[in-house]
Amino acid sequence: MSESTELSPGSNITTITVQANGPLEIQGEIVVCGADGKTIREGKRMYLCRCGHSANKPFCDGTHNKLGFADDGLGVKKDDA
Ligand code: FES
Repeated sequence: MSESTELSPGSNITTITVQANGPLEIQGEIVVCGADGKTIREGKRMYLCRCGHSANKPFCDGTHNKLGFADDGLGVKKDDA
């Protein structure tokens, strides 16, 4: 799979997109379970906090905007690791 992947309509691949200065956007058939293994939420699109400051973890509640969370969302490049 290439680094930039276009999904065809109806694809059953679940994708996680790191948003610039924001959460992880997950699209696909999603079930989020808690530490006890019980389902917290099911859906086809969710946003998970990666700034660490959401009051509704593991989901994003928009707090990253108020705090000015900054990350380009491009990940660590091999040359940087
Ligand atoms: S990424 Fe949105 S509240 Fe943390």
